[in-house]
Amino acid sequence: MKWCLFSFSLLLSVSCNLGSQGSSDVDFHEIRSNFGSDFPVEPPFDYQSKAPSYVQLDNRIGAGIDDKKATLGRVLFYDKNLSFNNSIACASCHQQNAAFGDTSSRSIGLDGGLTGRQSMRLANLRFSSEGKMFWDERAISLNDQVTQPIQDHIEMGFSGLQGQPGMNSLLTKLDSIPYYNELFSWAFGNKSASEAFIAEALTDFVSSIESFDSKYDQGVQTSGTINGPFSNFTVEENHGLELFLTPAQLNSSGIRTGGGIGCAGCHSPPEFSIGAGIHNNGVDHVAGDPSGFDTTNTKSPSLRDVLNSSGTPNTPMMHTGDFLEFTTIIEHYNEVIPDVNNTTMDPRLAKGPSVVKMELTTSEREDLESFVMTLTGSALYSDVRWSSPF
Ligand code: HEC
Ligand code: HEC
Repeated sequence: MKWCLFSFSLLLSVSCNLGSQGSSDVDFHEIRSNFGSDFPVEPPFDYQSKAPSYVQLDNRIGAGIDDKKATLGRVLFYDKNLSFNNSIACASCHQQNAAFGDTSSRSIGLDGGLTGRQSMRLANLRFSSEGKMFWDERAISLNDQVTQPIQDHIEMGFSGLQGQPGMNSLLTKLDSIPYYNELFSWAFGNKSASEAFIAEALTDFVSSIESFDSKYDQGVQTSGTINGPFSNFTVEENHGLELFLTPAQLNSSGIRTGGGIGCAGCHSPPEFSIGAGIHNNGVDHVAGDPSGFDTTNTKSPSLRDVLNSSGTPNTPMMHTGDFLEFTTIIEHYNEVIPDVNNTTMDPRLAKGPSVVKMELTTSEREDLESFVMTLTGSALYSDVRWSSPF
């Protein structure tokens, strides 16, 4: 950039503005007066993944995270200015203390309206073979997804419909906020917000949110296998892991006679995310409407951090948000009874036309739950890189 100094003044302003590493042009005055002098601009926080080497799945397919863009993404994620009446931020429905999901069943959007489905926990979202987003995988990528809530009529309301302003009003609004002029200049070399910049910044921030400091990770690191048994686990936790990993042996009537329960067939370790090609799991009703029918939900957030450190669920579970206790999850999979019209349930959960009966004993249920508890980390809930800058 030094050569700018020797250019004509007109060229100077043009060439310096085009420079993508425009940080030397930004004095961070507005950032510091809004977020405090320790806001991480020089140097920015390190948002690079620290995932251990046994974690292989990555839907970013090698695309790196830019620390400055992720820093801007953090501000956008927590900023209620992204909703048209300044009442809702991404973080309203994706809360750090709930593994970036929502503690209420279905989320409250603008003017008290409810979302159509339960909010999804965003922790470890990157570590999946599946790059499509939402329970029904209707968004083709994270980059495509992140601006959809902003334009959703109920969620943040820059929909351009029914009297709501459109995306251009949001861009004008952000351009009028001095700290965004500095943040966009710093991260993109251009002080004007655009939909593409917002998407890139939110994508980098959201995909940096990860959790790999669980008891399970300690077990894998010590033993060198992802399948256990682990010396740091109790007998019950190791048994729960075995049940999780091992497919069930069924007799001709679909009754389990041996083996495990085979959760890993869909929620595969060590990421515990769901890949493509999996069908619905028999939770086939519309959230909030048991008489409505919905078999399109084929994705789940990672089962890492589904429970919190006290062993209770971080969020209501499944797309309907009506599974409040982990025991009700186990009860569901013990004997999945689909709606008669549900023709697309995953074949692993039924045997031909018959219902599969796992006939889990009380101790098997307890052991499975104690294993799932080993998937909970701790830094996720407190790391300042993912916390509110406001
Ligand atoms: C009013 C609540 C609400 C707000 C605000 C909100 N979300 Fe969500 N989010 C949800 C719900 C509900 C879902 C699941 C919707 C579905 O599948 O139909 C979801 C799903 C997602 C997913 C998909 C996760 C996956 O594993 O497929 C991502 C990513 C996401 N939200 C990011 C964001 C970002 C970024 C923002 C801010 C720009 C945001 N959300 C704002 C409620 C909200
Ligand atoms: C055939 C594939 C399949 C198998 C096997 C399976 N699941 Fe699932 N699981 C899913 C799908 C699909 C969803 C999302 C369903 C929905 O919300 O409609 C899901 C959702 C969940 C959720 C909710 C996650 C959340 O964030 O709300 C939990 C918990 C869960 N499964 C645990 C288990 C356990 C424990 C087992 C073994 C007993 C298991 N699953 C076996 C496919 C499967």
